[in-house]
Amino acid sequence: MGFQSLFSFLFLLLPTVYSSQYLGNNLLSNRKIFPKQEEAITSYAAIFDAGSTGSRVHVFHFDQNLDLLYIGNNLEFHQRVTPGLSSYADKPEKAAQSLIPLLEAAENVVPQDLHFKTPLKLGATAGLRLLEGNAAENILNAVRDMFKNRSTLNVQSDAVAIIDGTQEGSYLWLAVNYLLGRLGKKFSKTVGVVDLGGGSVQMAYAVSRNTAKNAPLVPDGEDPYIKKLYAKGKNYDLYVHSYLHYGTEASRAEILKVSDGSANPCILAGYDGNYTYSEVEYAVYPPSSGSSYDACREIVLKALKLNEPCSRHNCTFGGIWDGGRGSGQRTIYATSSFYYLPLDVGLIDAKAHNAVVRVVDLENLAKRACGKTFEEAKSSYPHLSKERVPFVCMDIAYQYTLLVDGFGIDPLQEITLAKEIEYKDAIVETAWPLGTAIEAISSLPKFEQLMYFM
Ligand SMILES: *[C@@H]1O[C@H](CO)[C@@H](O)[C@H](O)[C@H]1NC(C)=O
Ligand SMILES: *[C@@H]1O[C@H](CO)[C@@H](O)[C@H](O)[C@H]1NC(C)=O
Ligand SMILES: *[C@@H]1O[C@H](CO)[C@@H](O)[C@H](O)[C@H]1NC(C)=O
Repeated sequence: MGFQSLFSFLFLLLPTVYSSQYLGNNLLSNRKIFPKQEEAITSYAAIFDAGSTGSRVHVFHFDQNLDLLYIGNNLEFHQRVTPGLSSYADKPEKAAQSLIPLLEAAENVVPQDLHFKTPLKLGATAGLRLLEGNAAENILNAVRDMFKNRSTLNVQSDAVAIIDGTQEGSYLWLAVNYLLGRLGKKFSKTVGVVDLGGGSVQMAYAVSRNTAKNAPLVPDGEDPYIKKLYAKGKNYDLYVHSYLHYGTEASRAEILKVSDGSANPCILAGYDGNYTYSEVEYAVYPPSSGSSYDACREIVLKALKLNEPCSRHNCTFGGIWDGGRGSGQRTIYATSSFYYLPLDVGLIDAKAHNAVVRVVDLENLAKRACGKTFEEAKSSYPHLSKERVPFVCMDIAYQYTLLVDGFGIDPLQEITLAKEIEYKDAIVETAWPLGTAIEAISSLPKFEQLMYFM
């Protein structure tokens, strides 16, 4: 695991304001405290996100305080190729070659003289983990070789790795709080993130020292509930958990398991088919009366396993500790499917980078969707892809139930559904690669030096 030591690193984000406070002299606030300030010290990082449907490269550019700088007109450069690495299961060289156009594009963005100190990293998410045998390992080895052979960027031995859900959640927390300017503030002023992927859902938020100290232990081999993070002069205790089997695509399988081959009230009238997830096929058809929000919710509640034993502490679902639900979770940013599904069914304006909704808006949306037939839904939701229409009632009912019954969020609470966040005059994606870039940059030697001057 290449990225695992994230939170044992120091995050050396040093804002100028902080320096002057530290020196205890306001007169110093405009003075250059860094001896080599005349050299414009800027750093780049190139982060590859190898997802199940495609691969993307993100290039970020930072100044010496780790503030994002422009690359052309934007604060991030990105480019995508399809299909994803996992579709080259038995052709690792081909998988590696699919990334060459992205590598070349990234190298063109970074000035030649900075290539050797520009970290290049690749994080592979869910798709690769599902491959049989050593297919994933072979692909990652081929990608590592290709980077080492062809790239003039800085490729460390841990540069190419599979990242798990807790890492995605922690990096996303870092990225979102960075973009919102919350790093360096009290934990209670930071925001929580909940990311609904295809295979898993991640929750991450900062908790008090005391909560962290009393966190329950997890069985050997599992990620602990608390990760430690130092950012902008502050130590944070982050509660992070990734719920495997509870992402959008995976949750359908869990919900169809409850109906176990018989009619499922989350499926729209007029649909009859199959759903395959993780090589298991499920029958997909509604009762003769069609879909029903109330009956669907019952089934979703069962799929969430709310009554799993939960010792001593309070739990979300499946016997998982809830993190104490303190003030680091008062404001929530919900990403990935939490943004895309409401967007595709018209709850969010197509031009909105993010939108504040009340959780109960999702329930109303689900009730409307569950009242439709398959044919009606096709015309009501033109932006929803064909494969997703039969599941529209199920998927929205799931999002609502997950937030309210799973995570215990008040239906009347406002949450922000986000794909991007405004930062300076630009917009930046709310996704884990920015968090990875911040970590990669802040462990470069020159930032250790910055630390030293503190
Ligand atoms: C990288 O270089 C090594 C050694 O020169 C070679 O064996 C390997 O096939 C190359 N791999 C790729 C993906 O170009
Ligand atoms: C579902 O899959 C089974 C087995 O592959 C097949 O016999 C059946 O026709 C499929 N049903 C539908 C509605 O596609
Ligand atoms: C469990 O939740 C209840 C209700 O929110 C709260 O009063 C109680 O303090 C919690 N217990 C623990 C151990 O966190």
